Amino acid sequence: MMITARSQKTLETTIDPSPLQAPQSSLRPSPPSPPLHLRPLREVEPLPDPSLARMRYQSPLRYPGAKSGLVKHIQQFIEANQPAPELFAEPFAGGASATLRLLGDGTIKRALIADADPLVAAFWKVAATDPDWLIKRLWDEPVTLQRWDYWRAYVPADPEDRELAVKCLFLNRTTFSGILHGRAGPIGGRAQKSDYDIGCRFNKDGLAQRIRYVGDLYDTGRLVDVWCKDWRDTITDVRKRYPLLGQDQVVVYVDPPYVAKSGRLYQYGFGTLDHLAVAAYLISRMPYRWILSYDDHPDIRQYYQTQQMRPTRPEARRWRIHKRLVTLRYSASDRTGRGPTDELLVTTLRHVPDHEAFRPAD
Ligand SMILES: C[S@@+](CC[C@H](N)C(=O)[O-])C[C@H]1O[C@@H](n2cnc3c(N)ncnc32)[C@H](O)[C@@H]1O
Repeated sequence: MMITARSQKTLETTIDPSPLQAPQSSLRPSPPSPPLHLRPLREVEPLPDPSLARMRYQSPLRYPGAKSGLVKHIQQFIEANQPAPELFAEPFAGGASATLRLLGDGTIKRALIADADPLVAAFWKVAATDPDWLIKRLWDEPVTLQRWDYWRAYVPADPEDRELAVKCLFLNRTTFSGILHGRAGPIGGRAQKSDYDIGCRFNKDGLAQRIRYVGDLYDTGRLVDVWCKDWRDTITDVRKRYPLLGQDQVVVYVDPPYVAKSGRLYQYGFGTLDHLAVAAYLISRMPYRWILSYDDHPDIRQYYQTQQMRPTRPEARRWRIHKRLVTLRYSASDRTGRGPTDELLVTTLRHVPDHEAFRPAD
């Protein structure tokens, strides 16, 4: 990504990431590793336009499995465990709906987001560090079938190419279910004869406001950084980058792809071994307090049967593990006519909110 005057103002140092890379999962190729921007934590400043924090929809990205209905439950968990964390980390960021909402309403002070998909990470990096450029590109972009074909075929010569952010936003807002990779076609089909055409989810005014909000969160020190990494490397690197943060001062929000859909929605797929690897890591190695959300699937119940962490590393603790079910009434599944769904929340936070919405799932 080209560093502009605006991003230079807030980025402190650029360092070579290679010595900090943890071993990659053998299950997928490593995403390209652009230089990491080391941004120290600082006191957060007031938002220049607080009304943006009250927008009904805050993420510029539509996300398969987006959990906007879940955010209020995560908020209640954090409020039941004061003081609030110094850093909230979302290593499977996707549409980052939890991070954006909780940063805006002050539930959390600061957050870091990361995603292994280079397109998704490029979008968040540019939205955070160069929102003016991205908003201008948004206004200049015709929303047509020809451009859809162009973006589908677009391969950047340089992994730092800012146009990747436009590709991500364009395909996410114009493709069925927001799917970025694979075979999903444009909204409205090739014939464009349905009531919903390719531009029906591309409201430029609304998207510009949401991008502005991301830039404001970054400029005010709330959104600390955006990384393109496998989830494990994100957690490892949080420890390396922020060694002064204690184990209770960071909460990692883990929202992996759904078990039911994960093979086909995401770039590299996310299979049984990946779900097992997440469970093994959270139970035996995770150095920070964590909250995990999943579709309520029997395999996941089985992986998280234990009531307590079983550390295999000195940095992990024997923290108690709580499991709760919550019903999402306004989830993405409602719009597909499947009605309310249960979501499983698993956490090592000390206290569970005393509220009937949280049903024990132990
Ligand atoms: C369920 S979505 C997250 C949804 C998000 N919480 C939201 O509300 O929009 C999962 C995300 O994980 C990313 N992902 C898949 N495999 C990953 C991996 N190994 N490491 C990090 N991110 C990964 C996908 O690219 C996708 O953006």
